[in-house]
Amino acid sequence: MSERTQPLLEIKDLQIEFHLDEGIGRAVNGVSFDIHRGQTTAVIGESGCGKSVTAHSILRIVPHPPAKTVAGEIIYHRSDANGSADPINLLKYDPKGQAIRRIRGNEIAMIFQEPMTSFGPMHTIGNQISEALLLHNQDMRKHQARQRTIELLKQVGIPMAETRVDSYPHQFSGGMRQRAMIAMALSCNPKLLIADEPTTAVDVTIEAQILDLLYELQATTEMAIMLITHNLAIVSRLAQDIVVLYLGRRMEYGTKEHIFRNPLHPYTKGLWRSIPKLKGTLERLVPIPGTVGSPYNLPQGCVFYDRCDVRMPGLCNGPEPPPSYEVEPGHLVACYKYR
Ligand SMILES: Nc1ncnc2c1ncn2[C@@H]1O[C@H](COP(=O)(O)OP(=O)(O)O)[C@@H](O)[C@H]1O
Ligand SMILES: [Mg+2]
Repeated sequence: MSERTQPLLEIKDLQIEFHLDEGIGRAVNGVSFDIHRGQTTAVIGESGCGKSVTAHSILRIVPHPPAKTVAGEIIYHRSDANGSADPINLLKYDPKGQAIRRIRGNEIAMIFQEPMTSFGPMHTIGNQISEALLLHNQDMRKHQARQRTIELLKQVGIPMAETRVDSYPHQFSGGMRQRAMIAMALSCNPKLLIADEPTTAVDVTIEAQILDLLYELQATTEMAIMLITHNLAIVSRLAQDIVVLYLGRRMEYGTKEHIFRNPLHPYTKGLWRSIPKLKGTLERLVPIPGTVGSPYNLPQGCVFYDRCDVRMPGLCNGPEPPPSYEVEPGHLVACYKYR
């Protein structure tokens, strides 16, 4: 998005369909954005807008079939010790192959909404994190892995890590499991952490703590974060760049300043109206009227047309969906209002 430096990851015109008996679902429809080293790109939008499918396609964990990647590139600028290496198009990798497995959980790690998906119930948290460490570090000895695991648990704020390392997942509270999952993800020093609604399943106190943790990690490491959330307070705290998705399309893209100071797309404005003010009084929430449509039955033209309060019949529901217009440098919006 900006000319800062070369991005770590560039998603270009990604298009993913699901081919089911019922029909074809266009889950991601021409989405492009960058993720920079040491920075957070937030991907926001209501449920069903293609956020997770986009994230999963980076790691190549979207199931093909039923999914089909119709177009696009995901360029990963992996750098070696000299700071140079050829860029890789992750979409060219075999999803089951060695190459992507070396990247998955190693250079690119992911944390999920539900931490139980990251841990099996039969082994201690410590053993599972140590195992991951040993897998990625051939020279590491067992006792070193245990020591490193304890350090990681401390780093994510787990008290009495020396004892807790021997606990089983069910002995941890939800918040603790969430932290342990982050420790697991950090065990390989990822270049990119994908956090898919990491705090949706925890209460607000724990949410704040997890965010503090991500914030701190960001400040102290070069790790980039792709943060998927529908909590705009979280976005305002963590993100440098924001991508707004709706029904598989990129509605708006810019820096946090662009999008918080000057939200342009009627959808973004609607999202903004639907949250309590970040500062000041709690105003009445105004949900966006209507519901997210289905990628299996997309309208022609702008996918937000039927919910839009400023739609222009004939233009917005015409044959061509609106292209992205650059309204100010680096601030793009896919809406005919700005043509
Ligand atoms: N495994 C699947 N099979 C069929 N359709 C899917 C599958 N996963 C996702 N989809 C479709 O893709 C759309 C986007 O899903 P997703 O990326 O999970 O949305 P979200 O923005 O909530 O993360 C969904 O509305 C659904 O129609
Ligand atoms: Mg999702």
